[in-house]
Amino acid sequence: MEKEEALLKVNNLEVSYDDIQILKGLSLSIQKGEIFGIVGESGCGKSTMLSAILNMMENGGKISKGEIIFEGKDISKYNKEEMRRLRGNRLGVVFQNPGETLNPSRKIETQFYEALRAHEKITKQEAGKIAADMLKRLNLEHGDKIIKKYPFQLSGGMNQRVALSLAMIMEPSLLLADEPTSALDVTVQAQAIGEMMKLRDNFGTSILIVTHNMGVISHMTDRFAVMYAGRIVECGDKNEILSNPVHPYTRSLLGAIPDFSGDMPTGLEGSPPPFGSIKCGCEFESRCPCCEGNCTTKELKLIDVSKGNVGKEHFAVCSKAG
Ligand SMILES: Nc1ncnc2c1ncn2[C@@H]1O[C@H](COP(=O)(O)OP(=O)(O)OP(=O)(O)O)[C@@H](O)[C@H]1O
Ligand SMILES: [Mg+2]
Repeated sequence: MEKEEALLKVNNLEVSYDDIQILKGLSLSIQKGEIFGIVGESGCGKSTMLSAILNMMENGGKISKGEIIFEGKDISKYNKEEMRRLRGNRLGVVFQNPGETLNPSRKIETQFYEALRAHEKITKQEAGKIAADMLKRLNLEHGDKIIKKYPFQLSGGMNQRVALSLAMIMEPSLLLADEPTSALDVTVQAQAIGEMMKLRDNFGTSILIVTHNMGVISHMTDRFAVMYAGRIVECGDKNEILSNPVHPYTRSLLGAIPDFSGDMPTGLEGSPPPFGSIKCGCEFESRCPCCEGNCTTKELKLIDVSKGNVGKEHFAVCSKAG
């Protein structure tokens, strides 16, 4: 059977800040209704990738190569206005801190009204009803009372669910979520993850979630990619990677997760090389327990390491740990 056309297809994306290359030939695809994760340590380029998709890069940032095909169109060529129409309509966004999504000086009701009004003709009253209904669908009872409040009058967990509801109000086909649970305490994190998964179940929403938490990856995603120093080093089916990680960095990342045994996790010494400092070969070489003579010179390409498991995608740029 032929695979349905991907909802989002990022092809060979390269992004630089002030002419220093950050993202290196990034490619990924997300199917309709799929939850795809991006994991990697701080500074590896996760948010840069999301802001490139959203055309929200800060000054000095530019896409130097590649395509971002969303619903069949290359949105990397869209201007600000075209992008604004897409955001909040076909593309929902939620950030780590609900404060980045919500306006602290406006009542929740007004924020829903403004979001809806940007895309359709609507009265304040109608918007309030739609907002309360959406909040209820995300398990926030008494939505009619919540919409009368300002963000500071709600808890962090409630605000994040309000931010999620706001991102979902136009029923976008893709939700981009940048560390949406990191600012929440553990119990509320679980709730927010549950709510996001319901979005997929109830609306068929695809989700691209950025996190540095392997627990979130394991619990939520269907497929995921591991990033290191601006590059995808391993990607594919979640269970394949978790049960048989082949890139030494993925191994280290999984080894760094604390468990309940009382043993200290292995951790990973050192830090990634500064962007722009490695011109060829593997960026992980200086920290890698498996490196060999040709690691600093060879071309890095994602290769199929799926070992013939039909339908279970698994790619890595190096399989020395596998
Ligand atoms: N506005 C900017 N100006 C210049 N360089 C930037 C800018 N934003 C990001 N960068 C560069 O891109 C790199 C990747 O940053 P990014 O925010 O994408 O990482 P991240 O993986 O999201 O990290 P974190 O987990 O801490 O959120 C940074 O280390 C920095 O070198
Ligand atoms: Mg980030």
